[in-house]
Amino acid sequence: MGTATPGEVLLAHITDAHVTPRGRATAVLKHQSVPIFEDLIQQLLDRGVDAALFGGDNIDNRDSGAEDLEIFARLAERLPRFHCILGNHEADSKKPNQITREEFAARLAGRGITAERYCFSEGVGNVRVIGIDTTLVGTHGGYVSPRMMQYLAKELRQAEEDHIVVLGHHLLYRTWEPHVLQAWDQEYLVGNRAEVTALLASSPKVRAYLCGHHHASRIQRIAARGHTGGFYHILTASPAAFPHHARLLAFRADGIHVETLQPRIPGIVEAGREAVLVGRKARRYATLGSSQTFLEYVEGRQSDNEIILPYDAAPIAERRGISVTSSARAMVLETMR
Ligand SMILES: [Fe+2]
Repeated sequence: MGTATPGEVLLAHITDAHVTPRGRATAVLKHQSVPIFEDLIQQLLDRGVDAALFGGDNIDNRDSGAEDLEIFARLAERLPRFHCILGNHEADSKKPNQITREEFAARLAGRGITAERYCFSEGVGNVRVIGIDTTLVGTHGGYVSPRMMQYLAKELRQAEEDHIVVLGHHLLYRTWEPHVLQAWDQEYLVGNRAEVTALLASSPKVRAYLCGHHHASRIQRIAARGHTGGFYHILTASPAAFPHHARLLAFRADGIHVETLQPRIPGIVEAGREAVLVGRKARRYATLGSSQTFLEYVEGRQSDNEIILPYDAAPIAERRGISVTSSARAMVLETMR
């Protein structure tokens, strides 16, 4: 039974699912990745999403790549429509028990990526979704090749829909700003992000860039000129690691309505909260000197998780550069009435 409002386009963004039946519990609860993914697929079916977007690191591909791929594909294929891109876990250099990106793309050909190209452009109602490859074999960091840039530019130019969203795996912007950490820049960001960001900002229809890879939840307005221009940089967390998020994005008349989904598995968030604190990312975060705790950072504020994003401008509180609290959010919603 679908619950989507007539006339709206309802997309799901699930990234970094790290599906594997042989996962170990680390900072990411990989041993629970299959039931987590299965539950989310059921939630998407119940909500009647128009299309699910899988943002890379869809499978863990560490010790049992072929099995991971088959389980991911079979669960995803329960959905009437989904589109995938690659993450660094699908583009790792081939080691024993891993699959290559060619093998991943061959199994899921036509579901976003194809065997020939690791990108896609699909119309979903009045939304054009463009998926790009930001991976570079042999590194965790991101890069958009000249060929991929040309593809993106052509698809941006030709889009006839009202709205464009672009799906990539790596980040275009530091979600940990104003802090700087060289290791995180290299590991998480697209190397040539200035060029990619400028290209996206050149199209007035680009509403958002959706990404993952960093396992945290953050929404920022980037590439704006004063109070105009720009687009939302929407970083979605991993459903397999605290805060165990996936997102729904409903394109309605007044903007993108962002909603967070969590797996309905008792105790999973509590277990994930304990686990994520012992990971390398938590240790690195501690060196930033932020006043926010690591758990607060990865979970995001309310404005990173449940918010209405007007199409052409950031909510007023974001534009003023202040953090959006519950009271500020009420004010934002009031201003938007
Ligand atoms: Fe990744």
